[in-house]
Amino acid sequence: MESFLIKGGVPLHGAVTISGSKNAALPIMAATLLTDEPCVIRRVPDLSDTRFMVKILESLGATAQLEGGTLTIHARKIKGYADYELVRKMRGSICIAGPMLARLHRARVSLPGGCVIGARPINLHLKGFEALGVKIAIAGGYVEASVKKLIGNSVFLGGRAGPTVLGTANVMMAASLAEGITIIESAACEPEVVDLANFLNAMGANIAGAGSPTITITGVPRLHGAEHEVIPDRIEAATFLIAAGATNGEVTLKGARADHLRAVIDKLNEAGVTVERKGADLVARRKARLKPADITTLPYAGFPTDVQAQMMSLLALAPGISIITERIFESRFMHVSELARLGAEIEIEGPSAIVKGGRPLSGAPVMASDLRASAALVIAGLAARGATQVNRIYHLDRGYERMDAKLHQLGARIERVEGT
Ligand code: EPU
Repeated sequence: MESFLIKGGVPLHGAVTISGSKNAALPIMAATLLTDEPCVIRRVPDLSDTRFMVKILESLGATAQLEGGTLTIHARKIKGYADYELVRKMRGSICIAGPMLARLHRARVSLPGGCVIGARPINLHLKGFEALGVKIAIAGGYVEASVKKLIGNSVFLGGRAGPTVLGTANVMMAASLAEGITIIESAACEPEVVDLANFLNAMGANIAGAGSPTITITGVPRLHGAEHEVIPDRIEAATFLIAAGATNGEVTLKGARADHLRAVIDKLNEAGVTVERKGADLVARRKARLKPADITTLPYAGFPTDVQAQMMSLLALAPGISIITERIFESRFMHVSELARLGAEIEIEGPSAIVKGGRPLSGAPVMASDLRASAALVIAGLAARGATQVNRIYHLDRGYERMDAKLHQLGARIERVEGT
């Protein structure tokens, strides 16, 4: 298994280009199942998750080619079965269920199961499908869904932790080919949902209101092939902004969207890191001393759960007490005990982590537990004195395109080595 070996204490300097968004690309790739015509998706990040999604789509019958960030895909005929091995390995693959139902009127998809960051139920996805007339049964760990004809309806998709991103995507895709009008209330407002709606509209769908809590989908009889460019990855962008602040460097982001990063930039400012626009670029640098900040993760436009771990690494360096409250995924604090190995002082109290920041971090071997936790450990390692070995970086490769190469370009002393 590969690891990153980081020699910390070097401020990051230079420019980095932000890749296409993983979480926008995955449902958009699934949406190509909605048409029997070819589609071309550009700025698809080269990640193990996007390559895995290509495999899934091929296993369902599509022919696909992903080269130089451009996916050319043709789902002339598809089948309606997704095996446990496919869904278990990548929970994002659940978003093939909506297109399968729309195209075939049936789907047999494994239940994803939990993962290290939380329970990850799909009850809201199923509630949305049922509202469209789908009959659902759970048997042998699989969702067996079938419908004679999808019929538009109103459905409230708010859950225990607010709206659901992929649930909104799934219902939006199924409803695109339903008869009549579907209104999703308490829809997820994430930019990734808007990007999917834009792609679906380019395919001939009729979707209004994406980006707001009420999405109206007027069903159409068929969708056609389309071309689309995926939005930049706001989580990757946030990770580099934070890394610039944590190492006391100055980093220019090329191709990031400031309008997708408002909550992150606001908290970075509070913590003493400025983020300025320079033409189309964003430039992050530390203003003065780092300061503590309190953060609560929330659905968009609130502070993203996918940036919570990385921000914790920064706040571990800020003298004073910061309180970080996780409201989206109940067990997303796996990085805390690993950050402690680098010398950070953090206590967990219910849904909150109390960060007693300002102690100097020093390098140590650490274990990555999930994608964003891995990014947090890399940031902490970059800021720490001495050498940090981040093991199990296959988690990072799921969601960050060439992270080691990009950091290297910014002056970081980082190497990919065989590890534990
Ligand atoms: N939830 C339910 N029922 C459902 C679906 C979700 O109760 O049917 C709950 C979840 O347990 C959670 C909350 O609703 O408490 C939000 O979950 P959501 O459904 O929005 O998450 P998701 O769509 O499965 C996507 C991203 C995640 C990101 C979340 C939240 C993709 C492929 N994944 O997951 O990304 O954390 O939205 O923004 O888009 C990551 O990239 O590291 C990652 C985990």
